[in-house]
Amino acid sequence: MKSPPLALYAHFPWCVQKCPYCDFNSHTLRDELPEQRYVDALLRDLESQLPEVEPRSLTSIFLGGGTPSLFSPASIGRLLDHARAQLGFAKDIEVTLEANPGTIERGKFAEYRAAGVTRVSLGAQSFDARQLKLLGRIHSADETRRAAEELHAAGLSNFNLDLMYALPEQTADEARADIREALALRPAHLSQYHLTIEPGTVFAAAPPTQPADEIVDEMLDLSLHTMRDAGFEQYEVSGYASAGARCTHNLNYWEFGDYVGIGAGAHGKLTNSARGLAERTQQTREPRRYLAADPRALVRKTISNRDLPFEFAMNGFRLVEGFGDELFEARTGLAIGVLEDAMIPLVARGLVERGQKRWRATAKGFRFLNEILVALLPDPDPTANP
Ligand SMILES: C[S@@+](CC[C@H](N)C(=O)[O-])C[C@H]1O[C@@H](n2cnc3c(N)ncnc32)[C@H](O)[C@@H]1O
Ligand code: SF4
Repeated sequence: MKSPPLALYAHFPWCVQKCPYCDFNSHTLRDELPEQRYVDALLRDLESQLPEVEPRSLTSIFLGGGTPSLFSPASIGRLLDHARAQLGFAKDIEVTLEANPGTIERGKFAEYRAAGVTRVSLGAQSFDARQLKLLGRIHSADETRRAAEELHAAGLSNFNLDLMYALPEQTADEARADIREALALRPAHLSQYHLTIEPGTVFAAAPPTQPADEIVDEMLDLSLHTMRDAGFEQYEVSGYASAGARCTHNLNYWEFGDYVGIGAGAHGKLTNSARGLAERTQQTREPRRYLAADPRALVRKTISNRDLPFEFAMNGFRLVEGFGDELFEARTGLAIGVLEDAMIPLVARGLVERGQKRWRATAKGFRFLNEILVALLPDPDPTANP
């Protein structure tokens, strides 16, 4: 097993206000933001994980949340400088900052760029005032438009807009109108997520009425065509990119690359090529506990040889192009033949297909990706502890 490319994920767990649909590790900020203390904790976290990281320069960094744009450009710069000093940056490193349009003052993006940010992901969600209110968003459509203008002016035209669809009582035309509004802001990338009702959220307690499956199918068709007409190609279940603007960081997840995860609740995945294994890591989840914890409290779990091929495939099938045999073998250290038995029934159901030395989801499989993922989940291991 060779060391794959290395990325860094840093989690920022606070938001101005928790959205009713969101089950990310994000918390309404009730007191003052513990900005310095949190960045100090991130630096300690990185430092304590370094001995387990095989030396490679970083190909991407993702500053995600929560709302990282609550942190000042100076704090983001401090973290990036430290990461560069500790690990080194690849020449064309991608550094993405997630931003909420409601947290951006004039001139702030230029400062983030000066601090080392190369790409921004803006949570637009919708341009419909009624939906923004239902979704509990803290910003208007006009604030999203202004943030996009600011991004272009700051030289950060390589930005993504997050949209959600299948919103409460949304029609297919309304979903298409959101895409058109988003495209008019000239982003380089669009992410389009199906609104899911997650356990434990406000929406789970009082679920809104979502459109019927046929309408959702129509939304997806209209979206795909509208984006294609604008020169955007779908390359991932939720990801559409203009030429050359695929997200390096997300591609690294789907291609089973390595990533160090720092911050409250952050996940990581690291290969140990000498021992021929890969590990998943998870940090303390609750922000205040994370701040007080020893970063060595990080939980590490080896991915067993039994789970490895399926974990790889569950990621790889999210890509329109699927995955090649060579990548599978390089990342897992296993022969591609180990997937054969699991693929036979999926091929028979028309969900996956074999291309030129690669596996990929069919158009039907792509629409029902969950069915592939469920079929790939290994049976519970009878020898494992409960
Ligand atoms: C961690 S948020 C990052 C952006 C920033 N916090 C914001 O909301 O502006 C990532 C994205 O996940 C999507 N998301 C969160 N919860 C979701 C849900 N229940 N269903 C579908 N998409 C969801 C939203 O589009 C959101 O922008
Ligand atoms: S969607 Fe974004 S802003 Fe809303 S609670 Fe989740 S992380 Fe925070």
